[in-house]
Amino acid sequence: MSRIIVQWVHRKNINMKILCFGSLNLDYVYGVDHFVMPAETLAASSLSIHPGGKGLNQSIALARAGADVYHGGCCGQGGKALRTLLENNGVNVTYLKDVDAPQGSAVIQVTPDGENCILIAAGSNACVSEGQIREALSAFEEGDYLLLQNEINNNALLVSKAHEKGMRIILNPSPYNEKLNDVDFSKLSWLFVNETEAKQITGSDDPETVWKIIHERYPSLSFLLTLGEEGSHAWKQENGTIIHHYEKALHVSVIDTTGAGDTYTGFFVSSLMKELPLDVCMKTASAAAALSVTRPGAADSIPSLKEAENALHE
Ligand code: RIB
Repeated sequence: MSRIIVQWVHRKNINMKILCFGSLNLDYVYGVDHFVMPAETLAASSLSIHPGGKGLNQSIALARAGADVYHGGCCGQGGKALRTLLENNGVNVTYLKDVDAPQGSAVIQVTPDGENCILIAAGSNACVSEGQIREALSAFEEGDYLLLQNEINNNALLVSKAHEKGMRIILNPSPYNEKLNDVDFSKLSWLFVNETEAKQITGSDDPETVWKIIHERYPSLSFLLTLGEEGSHAWKQENGTIIHHYEKALHVSVIDTTGAGDTYTGFFVSSLMKELPLDVCMKTASAAAALSVTRPGAADSIPSLKEAENALHE
């Protein structure tokens, strides 16, 4: 019996593809004892350069979690190692274009307790063309997934074209800003936000109130709310009903929280693609995110599926 289930899960995963269309960044990570203040000059205790960008991080998390993932986006000057990293992780980069612009980048301050603040410069990530979108989407069909964040241009076009094809669209509107006003949220299947974005979108930090507001605005949307060490909530639309699950976070020693949300996203979506029950999707994603915060960097900190599964049974 269990062999039949495993084979079924395996087959589902092989048939379904995901296009993660998003950013690639070079992350300049500065160790600081506090975040730099207005008009302050602060000496960092360390500087290291890591691969990052929400798009790249989520593609790598998807691949490490076992999904069949394609990355769409733009690779700029100085970004060759980012392309290679995606390839080495088994991500299909057919729709990653080389462009004549500086590679997207991020300046990240990390405090001793692992908190971060992030400043991004779009660079190459703002070079996504309409032709590139049409070419990439032509390889996907009804039922395939599109995963987006908010670090590239042309998300509104991606959403409308993917929706025309009947793809399932997941948006992680991070960073939340006015560019999202152009995106038709009613065309999304899932919206993934953290507590900061939830407050920006709804004005509330109470999970039930946030969900109520989101559900009123977009009645057919499924919704994931991650709260860091406070755990995560999801409300999933399934066969005409809404399933809610809360999953607590695993408690670990925090080194660097950068990329934890991206890790959660990749593992959660990979489990959704396997049509696993909601609580299983959230448990695996929580374990993967917990492991990621015990390691420095964003993409560098993402565990394998085996590591995440082992952490669940410890
Ligand atoms: O989510 C973490 C990521 O945000 C970093 O890798 C940085 O590049 C920014 O995009």
